[in-house]
Amino acid sequence: MPIDWKNLNKPILALAPMAGYTDTAYRRLIKGIEPRVICFTEFTSADGIVYESRNTLSQLDFNPNEERPLVAQIFGKKEEHFTAAAKILEEMGVDAIDINMGCPARKVISSDHGSALLKNPAKAAKIVEATVRGTSLPVSVKTRIGIDELNLPWFIEFCKDMEAAGAQLISIHGRCASQMYTGSANWEPIYEVKKNLNIPVIGNGDIKSLDDAIKKMGNLDGIMVGRGTMGNPWLMREITAHFFDEKYSPPLTYSEKLPTLLRHCELMVESKGEKRGMKEMRKHFVGFLKGFRNARTYRNEVVHIETLAQAKKVLHNIEKEIGNEQSNKSDFFENE
Ligand SMILES: Cc1cc2nc3c(=O)[nH]c(=O)nc-3n(C[C@H](O)[C@H](O)[C@H](O)COP(=O)(O)O)c2cc1C
Repeated sequence: MPIDWKNLNKPILALAPMAGYTDTAYRRLIKGIEPRVICFTEFTSADGIVYESRNTLSQLDFNPNEERPLVAQIFGKKEEHFTAAAKILEEMGVDAIDINMGCPARKVISSDHGSALLKNPAKAAKIVEATVRGTSLPVSVKTRIGIDELNLPWFIEFCKDMEAAGAQLISIHGRCASQMYTGSANWEPIYEVKKNLNIPVIGNGDIKSLDDAIKKMGNLDGIMVGRGTMGNPWLMREITAHFFDEKYSPPLTYSEKLPTLLRHCELMVESKGEKRGMKEMRKHFVGFLKGFRNARTYRNEVVHIETLAQAKKVLHNIEKEIGNEQSNKSDFFENE
């Protein structure tokens, strides 16, 4: 069912697209904890979709019973490929399409994808129009507040151009592309954009806790959370419960959290097979252990895990030592 962004229950609570993280296993894990979260796929190449690249198509694997409504995010620069990719994605059964205009990676910018589109609003608008032409699904844009520096009037015009081109939602990460992930996200321009647009606007950047979500929501239609969910997949549930006036207490100790990590392992093995799945789980183990006492020592063990049985054994052994302990959240975002 196409997502009706305008009439969706507000606030919209979204899981940010994160390449290498928000695959089908991660999204199923998050949706299993909080079904009202709207998930975005990792960014996928429009060219790859059109050329039926196996790698690209495997990135778009999803479980229709557990993940919908699902937003597929695409990047690229050829307008005709956006039209064709949108059509293919609709046939695959996703519920909305998002265009990446925020990726700051040098490789992506130098090939005129991602946040490079901020340099060329006319081209960006054509890409939105081309995508809209290919599908009856709603099309949205995810971007940053600028390339090298913020020029607010210019940025508001850019967002208005995306709306005029047919975008039905815009999500904004409050950093310029040149900042990558340094400094802190500036939400003020996002609130200003919201005042000037008729479509819903979602804010993004540096939400690590329920408190951050409450402080940052402002006049927006919703928020999007990325890194804050790493090692803390309960965060979206905590935030949703707050905004919908429900009571929820997230698990606190290692022992309380462990079953969810093991569930993640199982979902990963189911979707990617044991060898690849467990290799990809290593970064999630590290994220999970962050903030626990002796995390560094355990980290060296978990990065060598190769099988599900080994994961269970190692993680249960760690439980014997720190099962009743809680993680220190201030350590949680270090080095992010
Ligand atoms: C590892 C990683 C991968 C990311 N991949 C994508 C991506 O594929 N598409 C995208 O639009 N943004 C991507 N982002 C940016 C996030 O969606 C988000 O805008 C950013 O992390 C800021 O939000 P946060 O502070 O809640 O993490 C990625 C971020 C990280 C850390």
